[in-house]
Amino acid sequence: MTLPPQPDMRSSTAMKPKSTSPLNMKPMKAIAYDHYGSLEALKIRDIDKPKVNADEVLVRVRAAGLHIGDCFSVRGAPFVMRIATGLLKPKCGVPGFDFAGEVEVVGDKVTQFQPGDEVFGASNGTCAEYVGVASDDLALKPECLTFEQAAAVPTSALAALHALRDVATVQPGQKVLINGASGGVGTFAVQIAKSFGAEVTGVCSTTNVDMVRSLGADDVIDYTQEDFTQAGPMYDLIFDNVENRPLSDCRSALKPSGMLVLRLSKEGIGEAENLIRIVATEALRVDGPENATLGSEQIPDGPLKGAAMRSVASEYVKSDPEAAAQWAQRYANEDYAVSVIEEVGDRWAERDPVKAVSWLEELPEGRGQSVGLSSAFGDWEDRDLAAATEYLSAMSESPQRDSAISGFSRGYAWQDPLVAIAWALDISDPALRQESVTRAGQVFFRRDPSSAREWLNSSGLPAEAQEAILNTGERRG
Ligand SMILES: NC(=O)c1ccc[n+]([C@@H]2O[C@H](COP(=O)([O-])OP(=O)(O)OC[C@H]3O[C@@H](n4cnc5c(N)ncnc54)[C@H](OP(=O)(O)O)[C@@H]3O)[C@@H](O)[C@H]2O)c1
Repeated sequence: MTLPPQPDMRSSTAMKPKSTSPLNMKPMKAIAYDHYGSLEALKIRDIDKPKVNADEVLVRVRAAGLHIGDCFSVRGAPFVMRIATGLLKPKCGVPGFDFAGEVEVVGDKVTQFQPGDEVFGASNGTCAEYVGVASDDLALKPECLTFEQAAAVPTSALAALHALRDVATVQPGQKVLINGASGGVGTFAVQIAKSFGAEVTGVCSTTNVDMVRSLGADDVIDYTQEDFTQAGPMYDLIFDNVENRPLSDCRSALKPSGMLVLRLSKEGIGEAENLIRIVATEALRVDGPENATLGSEQIPDGPLKGAAMRSVASEYVKSDPEAAAQWAQRYANEDYAVSVIEEVGDRWAERDPVKAVSWLEELPEGRGQSVGLSSAFGDWEDRDLAAATEYLSAMSESPQRDSAISGFSRGYAWQDPLVAIAWALDISDPALRQESVTRAGQVFFRRDPSSAREWLNSSGLPAEAQEAILNTGERRG
């Protein structure tokens, strides 16, 4: 049954000032700039008040929030920012993305707001008396927040929420590390991760340690005193807002199935890769996986092609691991296949490590196979030792044996550090052997310091390795 139209004061266009009202055409004061450059070029002047379309709202700005992205958009650097802000000169010419204020005019199709509502949200050019904003980018301001407090929230909090809820899907009990915990994004990330029930470690400088702890962090690492990547495989998730450490260092602080989420905003290439990922994900939705793969193949060789191919494949891994396995086999010799091989291997290894290992053994020899084997054997924690021993023993001729043992000793160290160390000592490559023994030794130290100290004294390890084990053991033990 269709109901007759109901009189609704909120949606009645007769009650609202229209978007074409002369009110919208009057000038307003704004902080403005015509060219990219220094912050000194910003001037207060009169510009036209924004016109609002049918699905938009005109808000009188009571407070605007600024963050590091506003410096980028005024300076026009990093250059890749200009894809959004205008290539040769600024499209908007008024800084500011975040605001809080009062609704003055609502477009004809807007039903959820009315003049007088106190709101906050994100738009372009918020350092002005008025801002026009799509009604979807706006929310009612909670009464407990001042306009200034509300204006500090939108972009930074959404960046943190998107990373933790949508990308990483943080679960209760997970161990989460936030690098850059005292910054715009990080302060929200600490609180959001805690609200999801995670055990949170924040990384910041000495002066901000107490502040980050007061936000709810269970543990705080002062980056001037301690390097979070040296703590061993501790975290289910690292959310990195700083990106000052190589990926390989971050990986060593992650559990075998852990996830690293980057903001990817410092380097231009990082931004471009982000865009490519979005395009590839959209192509995947519209064209399907095979066509999205073919489209990504057309991109010239380089990091952007890698980003597109990885995005397509990682969707495969989520929706159809068998198809992802075939994809990984097809591109096994390419650098961009390495993370996919690892992901497929991990996924199977969680349920059935034997299946994962036999699939990985079938792959062409190369970095993908060795990273995959290391990662799959890393999942052997809590599993049948006899099966692992049989596999590793049968690999005596395999060039991937060292990687496999290294992965196994990493995962199994949490089960039985002495067994892990015994295997690690069997690695033929001296550097990998020392790294693996040191890592397993650190776990041993954290679990049973007195037996570990006894073992260390008679281990015959080089002094440097002994010191590394002792240092980590004493700090975290
Ligand atoms: N804010 C946003 O809305 C937003 C949105 C999208 C993307 N982003 C991007 O996300 C990143 C973070 O933005 P933000 O607004 O949070 O920046 P921010 O407010 O400048 O914070 C920077 C953080 O990095 C930490 N830091 C600095 N040097 C460090 C080091 N050597 N080791 C570890 N931590 C270090 C700082 O800690 P101390 O202050 O304690 O030294 C602080 O916690 C930026 O790349 C930005 O472009 C931001």
